[in-house]
Amino acid sequence: MRVAITGGTGFIGAALTQHLRDRGDEVLVLTRRATARQGELRWAPDRPLPPLRELEGLDAVVNLAGAPIATRPWTQRRRGILRASRLQVTEHLLGALSELRAPPRAFVGISGLWRYGDRGDDVLTEVDDRVAGGFLAQLAVDWEDTQLQAERLGARVAVLRLAMVLGAQGGVLPLMIKPFQVGIGGWLGDGTQYIPWISLRDTVRALVLLLDEPSATGVFNGTAPAPCTNKTFFSALGAALGQSVSLQAPSWVLRGAFGCMAEELLLASTRAAPEALLNAGFTFRDGEIRGTMRGLLDQHSGGQPAF
Ligand SMILES: NC(=O)c1ccc[n+]([C@@H]2O[C@H](COP(=O)([O-])OP(=O)(O)OC[C@H]3O[C@@H](n4cnc5c(N)ncnc54)[C@H](OP(=O)(O)O)[C@@H]3O)[C@@H](O)[C@H]2O)c1
Repeated sequence: MRVAITGGTGFIGAALTQHLRDRGDEVLVLTRRATARQGELRWAPDRPLPPLRELEGLDAVVNLAGAPIATRPWTQRRRGILRASRLQVTEHLLGALSELRAPPRAFVGISGLWRYGDRGDDVLTEVDDRVAGGFLAQLAVDWEDTQLQAERLGARVAVLRLAMVLGAQGGVLPLMIKPFQVGIGGWLGDGTQYIPWISLRDTVRALVLLLDEPSATGVFNGTAPAPCTNKTFFSALGAALGQSVSLQAPSWVLRGAFGCMAEELLLASTRAAPEALLNAGFTFRDGEIRGTMRGLLDQHSGGQPAF
């Protein structure tokens, strides 16, 4: 299979690239970096793109590019960057692909579960069409809609709505461990809110299923099948680190420190279920949080976490 991956240098993209190359696929990573290496193509997706002849006749494109959501406060300027790096970049990508004689046969996009917002104990599957208010929910909806436009290329389109991705050497987990290292780890708010998560290896496997499976179209919730509350999640992290957890970061502190990012990302209760993935025959390797946390923290030499 010949596949191009935008954002293929990132946390998820690098793992997907490695996995596909290991099984013998040809992968072209699209990157803005000046130091593009073999297997990479430099692009400038902040403006309309030339036709990108290197993408002629691909089996698939995976669209992972996007500026990091949670690393900086959501000022007006930052919101513009978060939206442009997804919506405009995707539009420019689709524009370039539409100029090709043989556009890709499949387009696999990415999104978040943010459209569901704060829904308490409701079990949220792909058929739930209630969209929350707020910046992130709107970003998720607009990003999905833009990516679904790849249908106009004649491509099969599948979009994975990702939960928080847990990997041993990147993403958010190493950051979550830091407070535990100085003895102040704990859950967020009252801890009863559901926190959707998925392991990095299941994320890669789900993306591969969407690449390989000719009948996979539409949206898929990419989240572990046993959702847990925030308190259970951080207790599992503490247990994997050999600590019992009794502290909490109160909601008012989080609101003061992170503004609406706290409300939409840290305190919202999103009990999402991966119904479409399961119906497509996907089996999770990392289904419940305690075993997953232990596995992630044990992945390195002598059982010692490498954080
Ligand atoms: N990780 C998660 O928990 C999670 C959860 C839900 C959704 N997602 C989404 O999944 C995608 C991949 O996540 P990730 O964790 O792998 O992210 P990541 O490590 O931050 O990688 C994203 C990649 O996007 C490219 N990029 C960054 N800013 C850009 C911009 N302004 N314009 C165009 N490209 C830009 C970068 O590639 P170059 O610098 O090489 O161009 C980067 O390697 C992201 O869009 C993210 O929002 C992730």
